[in-house]
Amino acid sequence: TYVVTDACIRCKYTDCVEVCPVDCFYEGENMLVINPSECIDCGVCEPECPAEAILPDTESGLENWLELNTRYSAEWPNITQRKDAPADADAMKGVEGKLEKYFS
Ligand code: SF4
Ligand code: F3S
Repeated sequence: TYVVTDACIRCKYTDCVEVCPVDCFYEGENMLVINPSECIDCGVCEPECPAEAILPDTESGLENWLELNTRYSAEWPNITQRKDAPADADAMKGVEGKLEKYFS
């Protein structure tokens, strides 16, 4: 599966949702997550994200993100249409420590 990581937080460009063939993105207030049991591992969303927030869970160190994506995709609503990014999305791109400060 692919997972969304902290680079998405407060950036939320939503380009990813437009390309997913199985509509498996779910929306929180400040980030999106992927439902790992629905993701078919096609990889087309990865290069679409301007924040490079989407990674395959085969990369090391992503266990916590897999858990977070699994947990919140069960709670948050599905999102299938692109919407405007937050006004300060570009300023939040690449900022460190977003999980601790801004997760929701
Ligand atoms: Fe959707 Fe494919 Fe990305 Fe999985 S890898 S979230 S199926 S676009
Ligand atoms: Fe987030 Fe990137 Fe999608 S910033 S909303 S994972 S395009």
